[in-house]
Amino acid sequence: MQLKDKVVFITGGAQGFGRGVAEAVLKKGGKVCLADVKRDQGEATAKELQTSSGADNVFFVKCDVTNVAEFEDAFKAAVSKFGHVDVMCNNAGIMDERIWEKQLEINFTAVVRGTMMALNHMRKDKGGRGGVIINTASMAGLMPTYWFPVYGASKSAVYHFTSSWAQNPEMKAAEVRLASICPAGAKTALLDLDDDQIIHHGHFKQVMETAEYCTVDQVVSAFLMAMEDDTINGTALTIRAKEGVVKMKLSLVPVE
Ligand SMILES: NC(=O)c1ccc[n+]([C@@H]2O[C@H](COP(=O)([O-])OP(=O)(O)OC[C@H]3O[C@@H](n4cnc5c(N)ncnc54)[C@H](O)[C@@H]3O)[C@@H](O)[C@H]2O)c1
Repeated sequence: MQLKDKVVFITGGAQGFGRGVAEAVLKKGGKVCLADVKRDQGEATAKELQTSSGADNVFFVKCDVTNVAEFEDAFKAAVSKFGHVDVMCNNAGIMDERIWEKQLEINFTAVVRGTMMALNHMRKDKGGRGGVIINTASMAGLMPTYWFPVYGASKSAVYHFTSSWAQNPEMKAAEVRLASICPAGAKTALLDLDDDQIIHHGHFKQVMETAEYCTVDQVVSAFLMAMEDDTINGTALTIRAKEGVVKMKLSLVPVE
């Protein structure tokens, strides 16, 4: 997909990876809707991006993705502002094992909701224009991580759900592709953790002191690849500091 004039909806768009993706899409001539629970941060980011890329190309909507009505209304608001949505990035996430049910709701349940909402809107076989759905998982979803078992499980679920939908034969006529983004650790606000947010925080901190973090730019390049490369479907794009972006696809049945 060429991003010029395309509309990209990004949950968790106020900061971190979401903001980085918005900037990159705008540079390619696209339009963005930033949806985030942080109103002040979201409005400030939108203002900055409007200044650099044009007021009409950036739209912020306050939205808690665990609030069904707010999430649906935010998506409808983007459709009404821009006419349609071409790319859905279900990217909002938290890491907090203390509130594990909430963590599952944000990191997985809302991703299911956002995917189904976007799919119904995009499906060409049901009157839509086709599109791409990109869900933010994590390397932590592809390997065991005893520091944050529920976080890891939520990301594993995102990967499984996303690649399973990609395999659905109806997606060919729907002209909707799906991919998951699986970054290793990156220095964003997500990792500003209180000691009790994860298990054995001291050990995690020690490991991360010597770990090589991937950069936000590397993660953003994976998002762009998922949007622009029409051969990507059902793929998990892993991102590590040294390897960069690697396409990973495991399947029992062939996925076109
Ligand atoms: N930073 C990392 O090391 C890393 C690695 C792998 C995956 N991820 C994933 O990347 C995604 C983006 O995280 P980030 O690293 O940019 O961190 P971040 O904390 O900077 O961004 C997360 C954004 O999600 C928003 N958000 C949280 N709960 C929300 C809710 N209920 N409704 C709407 N928005 C909500 C936050 O306000 C924030 O703007 C997350 O899904 C995270 O799990 C991050």
